[in-house]
Amino acid sequence: MSHVRLVNVTKRFGSVTAVNALNLEIDKGECFSMLGPSGCGKTTTLRMVAGFEDLSEGEIHVGGRLISSREKNWYLPPEKRDFGMVFQAFAVWPHMTVRENVAFPLRVRGLPAAEIESRAKDALASTNLLSAADESPADLSGGGKQRVALARALAINPDVMLLDEPLSSLDPHLREEMRFEIRDLQRKYGFSIIYVTHDQAEAMALSDRILVMKEGVVQQIDTPLAVYSNPVNRFVFSFIGLSNFLDVVRAGDRLAFPDGGELPLTSPLRDARLSLASRPSEIDFCEPGKGDLNGIVSRRSFLGEIIDCRIKTGGGELRVQKGRRAPAPDVGKSCGLKLLRPFWYAETEATKSG
Ligand SMILES: Nc1ncnc2c1ncn2[C@@H]1O[C@H](COP(=O)(O)OP(=O)(O)O)[C@@H](O)[C@H]1O
Ligand SMILES: [Mg+2]
Repeated sequence: MSHVRLVNVTKRFGSVTAVNALNLEIDKGECFSMLGPSGCGKTTTLRMVAGFEDLSEGEIHVGGRLISSREKNWYLPPEKRDFGMVFQAFAVWPHMTVRENVAFPLRVRGLPAAEIESRAKDALASTNLLSAADESPADLSGGGKQRVALARALAINPDVMLLDEPLSSLDPHLREEMRFEIRDLQRKYGFSIIYVTHDQAEAMALSDRILVMKEGVVQQIDTPLAVYSNPVNRFVFSFIGLSNFLDVVRAGDRLAFPDGGELPLTSPLRDARLSLASRPSEIDFCEPGKGDLNGIVSRRSFLGEIIDCRIKTGGGELRVQKGRRAPAPDVGKSCGLKLLRPFWYAETEATKSG
């Protein structure tokens, strides 16, 4: 049975629908990410699960228990939900020591002193903070402060951990390190994670499943691999990894660029206007005339491990990336391009603007 279940969850702020009819089931012990651009409704969703925001419509269940329902007018306050929470800003209390920060939520809950001490110690040990227990969090680095926030969330022994861009104020190296630490803590404690981020690499690295959201509406829910290798629409394609799009028009069975130039490709879609999507890493160079497209190299940058090329084609510019040992033509040279894995999306006005 699912552990966290959202049924038709909708949140409106005046005329803005921040979250629109969200249905979602998260398993016990799963790390589930919500990914999307700023303003798409991620934080609002998390705040509704946490209990800081009521629902305009729908229900939320956790562990088989109803915690929020607009229709039934039922709402369990945040302090009764017992979820761990870590947010982007280092929300630690500078006037308390690290140990006091971690113990504070336990004290509020009125636990016996011996239990407070042992739980706080365990949470501090798990986050490598024992040696800093008597320091002020103000003296810690960004990563240290965020560990304190994690330890404080862990101490209450939560079933569900809600993390809202918890690593975005850390430097890239530390961010990568902390991803692993979060996964390790999850394995040790067994909680479910709902992880909010706008960073696709972070979502891919951490998650069992990813939800991609746009303007309050779910676009796709899948494993990282499935979201990357089978994006359901142009928005998801462009949000996950690097992307190229070319406009293509259909005339009967033939495909061509709007300005002319036929393409030796077929598409399963019958729409009159299509978008041809490809990843820069999934295009090979070949002799001119021998591929799916011809072009001229307009730019070529050596990026260390890879060579990044821009190719002018009859339908627009394409980005191609090859490993540094693979051959790549020089600037000004003509080349053929083989699209190893072309994707087709129907081009409607709606997707055009996105
Ligand atoms: N308290 C609020 N009052 C009015 N509008 C809000 C409020 N909170 C969020 N919104 C709006 O809801 C939408 C979703 O915001 P948010 O959930 O914060 O997005 P994200 O976390 O994905 O960046 C945005 O358009 C935002 O302006
Ligand atoms: Mg947010």
